[in-house]
Amino acid sequence: MAAHAPRKILVTSALPYANGPLHLGHMLEQVQTDIWVRFQQSRGHDCLYVCADDAHGTAIMLAAEKLGISPEQHIDTMRELHVKDSDGFFINFANFHSTHSPENRKWSEKIYKRLKDNGHIASRTITQAFDPEKQLFLADRFIKGSCPRCKADDQYGDNCENCGATYTPADLINPVSAISGATPVEKESTHFFFKLPEFEDMLKAWLDSDTLQPQVANKLREWTDAGLQEWDISRDAPYFGFEIPGEPDKYFYVWLDAPIGYIASFENYCQRSGHAFDEYWKPGTDTELYHFIGKDIINFHGLFWPAMLHSAGLRPPTAIYAHGFLTVNGTKMSKSRGTFINASTYLEHLDAEYLRYYFAAKLSNSVDDIDLNLEDFVQRVNSDVVGKVVNIASRCAGFLRKGFNNRLTDACAEPALLADFIAAGDGIAELYEQREFNKAVREIIALADRANQYIDMKKPWVLAREEGREKEVHDVCSVGINLFRVLMTYLKPVLPAMAAKSESFLNVSLDWTDLQAPLTRHELSTFKPLIQRVDPKDVEAMVEASKPADASEAPGKTDATPAAKPPKAQDTVIDFEDFAKIDLRIAKITAAEHVSGADKLLQLTLDLGDMGSKQVFAGIKSAYRPEDLVGRLTVVVANLAPRKMRFGVSEGMVLAAGSGGDELYLLEPHEGAQPGMQVK
Ligand code: 2FM
Ligand code: ZN
Repeated sequence: MAAHAPRKILVTSALPYANGPLHLGHMLEQVQTDIWVRFQQSRGHDCLYVCADDAHGTAIMLAAEKLGISPEQHIDTMRELHVKDSDGFFINFANFHSTHSPENRKWSEKIYKRLKDNGHIASRTITQAFDPEKQLFLADRFIKGSCPRCKADDQYGDNCENCGATYTPADLINPVSAISGATPVEKESTHFFFKLPEFEDMLKAWLDSDTLQPQVANKLREWTDAGLQEWDISRDAPYFGFEIPGEPDKYFYVWLDAPIGYIASFENYCQRSGHAFDEYWKPGTDTELYHFIGKDIINFHGLFWPAMLHSAGLRPPTAIYAHGFLTVNGTKMSKSRGTFINASTYLEHLDAEYLRYYFAAKLSNSVDDIDLNLEDFVQRVNSDVVGKVVNIASRCAGFLRKGFNNRLTDACAEPALLADFIAAGDGIAELYEQREFNKAVREIIALADRANQYIDMKKPWVLAREEGREKEVHDVCSVGINLFRVLMTYLKPVLPAMAAKSESFLNVSLDWTDLQAPLTRHELSTFKPLIQRVDPKDVEAMVEASKPADASEAPGKTDATPAAKPPKAQDTVIDFEDFAKIDLRIAKITAAEHVSGADKLLQLTLDLGDMGSKQVFAGIKSAYRPEDLVGRLTVVVANLAPRKMRFGVSEGMVLAAGSGGDELYLLEPHEGAQPGMQVK
């Protein structure tokens, strides 16, 4: 690498909401960021990756209330889980902080004051929907009602999931608060706005400066072309966040203090480590600042944030790197298909490095979506990492141990081949730098193919059986190990744990900066397996574990991906013939038990008279104690195809009435009905 002074680079990825577990979509971003950061570090740069939980907002406040805990307790628990998951994926944060921190309060207040002093804050009265029962202003997504166009009920306040219409909550028919069910009223309140239109020229120049990815700049130009609007940065109490100084009962909107959390997390790190802080934030600094984000939040990072930084007299980001969404098996992650996979579920079944490698093999610097195809995942990791890279070391190590006391030759027998591998490093480094990880991986694997071809051609296993050819065996295997060393150095940003094991085996640290001299007259440690093959059964088990045990067990909506809504009666009309296919029967509950590990399910044994007995998992635990159910009659769908659930096979479905909450009423026939009777 060039003998320049090390660059000072600060890197962030989007702050996850402290309101739900991390899923593989989060991990795509963290892995992308982490690979880039580790690459910079291995090139000798001072590169730091900071992140934090995004801890504020109404959703977090309400979730904590529902759990009967304080928002502080809720976000603490979430932060612990997030840290554990990121650790599991070897995400090498210098700091993982929280936006609910003293540093973030200080910086949010400081930046707000600067914006205000510069005349960039406006205030005016607006009218908003208000929940009179909860005494809470309602954001659009907390209002539900019937669609003004197609009349579908239970639609959110901004768009209809049934017909796709977009509207304002005021257009909804019979609007209700999704929190309390009360009918919202209109209420006035004063809000504070960031005067984004005043930054039009500055933002247009920024969009034209080639700093952003072309697709991102184009998307953001739609905003500037349409005319920038003032941005509402305040929320009324009750709200979990920071109160606006001098404005009682007014809070900073979560998206105001979230990106400031980048500064706060870095400051917290600098205070603990003694690292320089100020030079990273001055305009004109030669330090670099990069934000890795998903393409869904480019307006906050590409417009609002640079304008805020500008007004506050702070430096702009060097670049914003947006990535696409993660799909699994070609479609949006789905809970029912078991492809909405939480980071912790993945880690219970599979090695983190498999996914790091797969993501690297797919990631480019574009905003295209990335597909995790689970079959391809197994095949690719096994073929490339195990079959090609590890194979080089494992096939050479045995001969070196048996015949040569784990010692490498005094000189490299193929200097030209090794020189080719080392020379490829600059191109590979440039690809990493440009975030073209897929191309970098392709080049590295092409080198691995060359290394394997060399060993195949020399056939040390044949030479080893022939008299007087020990030196050749020693030469070939020593060359193989040297090639492996170069490849693992290139792969270290992607596979840090496997690289650490390789370092123990090779007895050197794998640094890009140390590659020039071959390893000669050098003793290896005894080779131990570096990684196991991916077992497709583990992938299947992960998918099974990700399926909701029952529709009523499905985890709730997360901020990232709305949960699928159950079909509504008016969405689907079925023919009488189809209806007649449903075999409804009277069943007697002969046993009812709790299901270990399930929050909502009871396991029921049903007597269907002549039809025998069935085992059913029913999501009725919130409403019934098992002992109260035994002996009761109910109605069961008897010809439902058995469904494999996390806790066992469910052979039918009992019918209950409910409004969607915890209230449930099992259907019961009039006296005289007998088990097995058909319900007509
Ligand atoms: O979209 C999200 O998940 C946000 N919590 C990201 C915040 S990024 C930054 F601005 F803090
Ligand atoms: Zn509609």
